[in-house]
Amino acid sequence: MKSSRFFRYSLPAFCLFWIFGAAFVQAQPAKKEYQPEVGQAGKDVVWVPTPQLLVDKMLDMGKVTAKDYVIDLGSGDGRTVITAAKRGARALGIEYNPEMVELSKRNAAKEGVNDKASFVKADLFESDFSQATVITMFLLPSINIKLRPKILDLKPGTRIVSNTFDMEEWKPDETIEAEKGCTSWCTAYLWIVPAKVEGTWQLPQGELTLKQTFQMISGALKSGTNTTQVNGKLNGDQISFTAGGVQYTGHVSGNSMEGTANGNKWSATRRR
Ligand SMILES: C[S@@+](CC[C@H](N)C(=O)[O-])C[C@H]1O[C@@H](n2cnc3c(N)ncnc32)[C@H](O)[C@@H]1O
Repeated sequence: MKSSRFFRYSLPAFCLFWIFGAAFVQAQPAKKEYQPEVGQAGKDVVWVPTPQLLVDKMLDMGKVTAKDYVIDLGSGDGRTVITAAKRGARALGIEYNPEMVELSKRNAAKEGVNDKASFVKADLFESDFSQATVITMFLLPSINIKLRPKILDLKPGTRIVSNTFDMEEWKPDETIEAEKGCTSWCTAYLWIVPAKVEGTWQLPQGELTLKQTFQMISGALKSGTNTTQVNGKLNGDQISFTAGGVQYTGHVSGNSMEGTANGNKWSATRRR
């Protein structure tokens, strides 16, 4: 008696619930994947993606190989990080927009490189990028200038590659244009963080005084009563200069340098 009442009243209600419930589920639109829009606001810079052609050229300029650790400052949809990871490098994207970070992770997974490519939601101004061997960026001139002191303190030889925006008085070591197939944002600059050599150095034959403006060096080599002018350049920890018509090349390691000049070995130690 009791069970027949249950079937009479509850079963139709259950069936109606089931039919309308299923219809409601079907009526829900499938959850859309996040689609970024070119020009959308970012914390300090809007999002504009680097054309893939230029991404490739930027990584070529930075000579990115599997030995590198590449960090993209403001990594957008992750394309530079993913491309570096495809070259076998370890790569990290620092991006403030959490939806772009999640999108980048999905993109890396689709490309099969999420073991090499990682992304963090962080402010690039508060991030430590001192372990990078290559830094890539597409920011703004004012941001490049704000980052410049921190960049100049990176390990000598660290390669910095920027899309379109330069570092004012710190002239690039190389500039390239991506021409074919690239319509906007097609210039890239490379800088190599120079060793710090300004000061006075002692050589067996005399005293070398160097003044340094980014990667450019000038100064004097004093030997007895003879003083000759010095002009040269740094390429990371590689130094080259001429003094009295002699070409000196060598490498800097903290407070010492050594190399060759006219086929003879030379070395110097920092005095101050
Ligand atoms: C011009 S886009 C470049 C994107 C990517 N690097 C590329 O080349 O395709 C700049 C990116 O920096 C991000 N961004 C802006 N300010 C930031 C900040 N303070 N910290 C981290 N990311 C930031 C933006 O959200 C945007 O994705």
